[in-house]
Amino acid sequence: MRVAILGTGNISKEFMNASRIAEVEVCAVYHREMAKAAAFAENYGIPAYFDDYDEMLKQDFFDTVYTGLPNSLHYPYAKKALCAGKNVLIEKPFCSNLAEFDELVNLSHEHNVYLIEMDRVTSLPNFGVIRDHLGELGPIRAVTIDYAQYSRKYDDYLNGKISNVFTTEFSGGVLSDLLVYCVNYTVALFGKPTNLIYVVDKLSTGIDITGTLVMKYPGFIATLTGSKNSIGDKRSTIQGEWGTIMCDTVPSVLKDVDKVTRQGTERISVYEEYDGTTYTLFEMKRIIDNDDRAAGEIRLAQSRKVMEVLQSARKSAGIVFEADNR
Ligand SMILES: NC(=O)c1ccc[n+]([C@@H]2O[C@H](COP(=O)([O-])OP(=O)(O)OC[C@H]3O[C@@H](n4cnc5c(N)ncnc54)[C@H](OP(=O)(O)O)[C@@H]3O)[C@@H](O)[C@H]2O)c1
Repeated sequence: MRVAILGTGNISKEFMNASRIAEVEVCAVYHREMAKAAAFAENYGIPAYFDDYDEMLKQDFFDTVYTGLPNSLHYPYAKKALCAGKNVLIEKPFCSNLAEFDELVNLSHEHNVYLIEMDRVTSLPNFGVIRDHLGELGPIRAVTIDYAQYSRKYDDYLNGKISNVFTTEFSGGVLSDLLVYCVNYTVALFGKPTNLIYVVDKLSTGIDITGTLVMKYPGFIATLTGSKNSIGDKRSTIQGEWGTIMCDTVPSVLKDVDKVTRQGTERISVYEEYDGTTYTLFEMKRIIDNDDRAAGEIRLAQSRKVMEVLQSARKSAGIVFEADNR
């Protein structure tokens, strides 16, 4: 796998650090301003940089594109890359809606290339640990996840400067930004809910700044709360009749996981050497280098379920992205 990175923001920097550990070769970087592309390339020792995306896609010294761009841009940039015969590692949230998702998947099949979401949750070793212990909880009755992360961009918003993550134009909001991890976790463990409702507090821009997603499953309820304008908990619990799995971190981190039963508390988490981006990249590299089509399809099926939940949740809360009207 030889990668070209799109964007030079926070997550592209994290990707570069992860690529060193995962021994993934980054061959090029794109930014719409040449000076920023050049500075990033120099800083990370990337041999080629571009401000012309079409020109970059003509090159054959890389086979995979990574979309470190604002949410609504994943789709158009991924589409061009797939049509150029490149694999795509797509950031979360995958894209803006199901229509875009299905189109991208069809294109990946048509061009016989990989399209894989950078899903950190299911790549974490402790996700597997939690899944393996679920049977010890008895019938599941409740799942609760809290993910509050006060955003400095909220201060900017209050001062009249609106970041792309707070706009419907760029498919922003707390569901796309934070709750997506919680949805991924819940859907990976329990599948799609039978019913859901999403209750939100919106900014004047129309996006959800704080929201609670209630998902009904046969026999239990999952309640996922996310917030970008409050300081609060980051934790999750899975409660069954015989015990609880408690985690004092969010699903994209999953450290310090305890199983609590009438017999006492047992630390079940394993030590994780790397962060979620690194574990994810190890897995992406394994899939692409080994041409593991089955694993790629399993990941796509999971991503589609997540996208279905995100779309239903937005519908429930009356959140419409510009991308929905295109
Ligand atoms: N930050 C995280 O921890 C994190 C974690 C996981 C996933 N993600 C996902 O990764 C993606 C990027 O997040 P980020 O935090 O890295 O964002 P970011 O820091 O805002 O960086 C986004 C990059 O896209 C560029 N960009 C902005 N508007 C553009 C446009 N209209 N056309 C082309 N390029 C444009 C930005 O350039 P300028 O800087 O010049 O505007 C920047 O290089 C998002 O989808 C996010 O959900 C982020």
